[in-house]
Amino acid sequence: MKVAIFASGTGSNFEVLADDDALKKAGMEIMNLVCDQPGAPVIEKARQRNVPVTVIRLSDYDDRQHYEAAIVALLAPLQLDYILLAGYMRVITPVLLHAYPQRIINIHPSLLPAFSGLRSIERAYAAQVAETGVTIHYIDEGVDSGPMIVQAKVPLLPGDSLAALEQRVHDTEHAIYPQVVAELIKNQNRRSNSINEKSVGQCFR
Ligand code: GAR
Repeated sequence: MKVAIFASGTGSNFEVLADDDALKKAGMEIMNLVCDQPGAPVIEKARQRNVPVTVIRLSDYDDRQHYEAAIVALLAPLQLDYILLAGYMRVITPVLLHAYPQRIINIHPSLLPAFSGLRSIERAYAAQVAETGVTIHYIDEGVDSGPMIVQAKVPLLPGDSLAALEQRVHDTEHAIYPQVVAELIKNQNRRSNSINEKSVGQCFR
């Protein structure tokens, strides 16, 4: 299964996915890291792992549509199965969505629809919610909306600092994103097996 990972910042989710031997063994190939922030630490993490990097800045394009059209053109030869957003801090437009229908997945650090948008963990902490969490979902044209794949709850414990909550949320992200990708690979293999069975059946009819 060929994927590109899109990220804008630290890249801890990128790192967890890239270093997961079970995913590699199951057939995940990270064909490209797409990053919109030239100085982001995730770029170095990709280079250290020999993942090809595309740094592409929105400010070099007239608008978001032209920016995404350029990304679509760059990625087309890679024949990707999925795009995995891992801290990619931009709204996706129909240009990318139509090129990869139901093939773009996002991770968000809250129990959506609560705390969509930016600084989600900080806002959940400020609100002193009893629990927050992580959502992994397909992307649609909204901000942090689109069909849910999985949610995991994370408690806010008495005496927690913001840093403690952030760590717990990130640990949860790092546990569940690889599991979701493993499921995608399984489903993809099932689909391609059933297509192969059909075509073998047709050959011998
Ligand atoms: C993660 O917490 C991810 O859920 C969040 O950005 C962080 C990136 O961390 N994404 C969003 O808020 C998307 N709306 P990382 O760069 O260390 O993976």
